Amino acid sequence: MRTESKAGPEQALVDQFGRTAVDLRVSLTDRCNLRCTYCMPAEGLPWLPRQEVLTDDEVNRLVGLAVTRLGVTQIRFTGGEPLLRPGLAGIVAAAASLRPRPRISLTTNAIGLARLAPDLKAAGLDRVNVSLDTLDPVRFKALAHRDRLGDTVKGLEAAAAAGLSPVKINSVLMRGVNDDEAVPLLRFALEHGYQLRFIEQMPLDAQHGWSRENMVTAEEILARLRGAFALSQDPAPRGAAPAETWLVDGGPAKVGVIGAVTRPFCGDCDRTRLTADGQVRACLFSTTETDLRGLLRDGANDDAIAEAWRETMWAKRPGHGIDDKTFLQPPRPMSAIGG
Ligand code: GTP
Ligand code: 5AD
Ligand code: SF4
Repeated sequence: MRTESKAGPEQALVDQFGRTAVDLRVSLTDRCNLRCTYCMPAEGLPWLPRQEVLTDDEVNRLVGLAVTRLGVTQIRFTGGEPLLRPGLAGIVAAAASLRPRPRISLTTNAIGLARLAPDLKAAGLDRVNVSLDTLDPVRFKALAHRDRLGDTVKGLEAAAAAGLSPVKINSVLMRGVNDDEAVPLLRFALEHGYQLRFIEQMPLDAQHGWSRENMVTAEEILARLRGAFALSQDPAPRGAAPAETWLVDGGPAKVGVIGAVTRPFCGDCDRTRLTADGQVRACLFSTTETDLRGLLRDGANDDAIAEAWRETMWAKRPGHGIDDKTFLQPPRPMSAIGG
């Protein structure tokens, strides 16, 4: 659901195409304990040097500024894997203490969530989205290069038990790898009350292995689902959400499809992004960034930082341009942007 920015027009993060960014995605680390093939090479990546990563206080200052001066109403913490950030609960608590209080969510692989869910809920986390691409432990190991399916499943259960709801699942289907699991994944989600969304794979992997032919499209996903379920139009307004949703067998259960490549939603985008090393990105696919860490550490005041953030968003391009001949994949891989 779209939340209108409470910042006045001269303060909000507006762009030249009439969009207002009210949804801030903050990557808290570029590290991860999995190696999903569409995201990271098996051997991992050179991690950001520790001194370049924002401290908890620096994150809190920028999040605070975004909420109190730039009209941001929703914060999503991402990674890499955000549960690997030691100060996560404190960062969530700092965000929850802001007024107006933003909605706070987390995108995670859920490894470790079985232990952390109650503390995160108590700190003020509202909900989680969990990445899960297969229900087969052998495939999980092949796909993520780690044998951790059980931990993710336990993390999902803990999230639901702690009231971090709606608990959503993100599944990226890959041709010949897990594209036969659309229906089993949906059955699993329905059985447990999780809200499943399938995601078209985007060209953001560090290995540059993406190809349009191998991408399982939204149409294909829907055709597979329609073989087993009746999908009908969801009457709820979509707003700026990347996921289009359908009622399953008349509802109330829903399934979503994030057709980022074949059904782009850039025209309604309400997002701004902050990387773990303090760079603001106007778009997932931006090839340029603004260095807020440098400003912070040079002693810039809130006015100067807010202005640099606004200027970055003003220059946001109308769309991701994946279909353009001139399209260039961003140099920063998905794991260091946070999705
Ligand atoms: P909800 O608020 O729960 O709907 O979150 P979300 O779906 O926006 O966030 P999540 O982190 O779960 O991301 C799901 C997928 O959507 C990931 O593959 C993201 O990379 C992708 N995604 C999120 N925001 C954008 C965006 O602005 N543009 C594009 N192209 N993809 C996005
Ligand atoms: N294309 C689409 N989604 C991706 N994710 C990671 N890499 C890609 C990609 N190349 C998803 C993860 C996670 C979310 C942050 O982004 O599955 O759920
Ligand atoms: Fe880790 Fe997420 Fe990338 Fe998978 S998609 S390797 S869980 S950061």
